[in-house]
Amino acid sequence: MVDQDTAKIDRTATTRRRFIFGVIIASIAGAFGSLLSLLKVLSPSKKGGGYVSTITPGDKLVYAAGNNLGAYIKASALNVGDAVLAYPAGKSSNPANIVQLIRLNAADFGPPTNIKLTDKGFVAYSAICTHLGCNVSWVKNEKSPDTSYTECFCHNSIFDPAKGARVIGGPAPIPLAQIGVKVTADETIVFTSDFTGPIGPQLS
Ligand code: FES
Repeated sequence: MVDQDTAKIDRTATTRRRFIFGVIIASIAGAFGSLLSLLKVLSPSKKGGGYVSTITPGDKLVYAAGNNLGAYIKASALNVGDAVLAYPAGKSSNPANIVQLIRLNAADFGPPTNIKLTDKGFVAYSAICTHLGCNVSWVKNEKSPDTSYTECFCHNSIFDPAKGARVIGGPAPIPLAQIGVKVTADETIVFTSDFTGPIGPQLS
């Protein structure tokens, strides 16, 4: 009788221990899952950031900001040292399509700029910083317009627009990809190529 009672107590204790052990394992698994989700949210953008451009040669450039938002950009609207953010007409819903259109002295272009993808001093690069994906800005030197440059104010990466948008300061890992542009007979500007390299944040 005593042995039967003892065995029953042992079974009950074992069952309780298994239950508690199961609860602990389930709790740890749940906490681990929550931690993974949190890390996923907090981690920086993955390489490329999922940016895929849908620009095709022949697309016309339109203003991406300002009073002329959506209007065709005319070559005569930009002087040397000027730059604007632009989209291909009708494709502004894809953030991967945004570019910075810049006008410089054609004689100032140097490697690694692809000269064939420029026209009359116009050059265009992806406007998405290769560090973490902010949109870049233009810093105009009013006294010496041809020394103006592109900067990302998120973490102060600086790109040289006359030299293939190479990185000359800050944490950006690679240049902004160039894309071909051409001035048409009616002074509007069209894309003539795809991007020459990857666009978007390039952290791995
Ligand atoms: S996102 Fe441009 S410098 Fe960091």
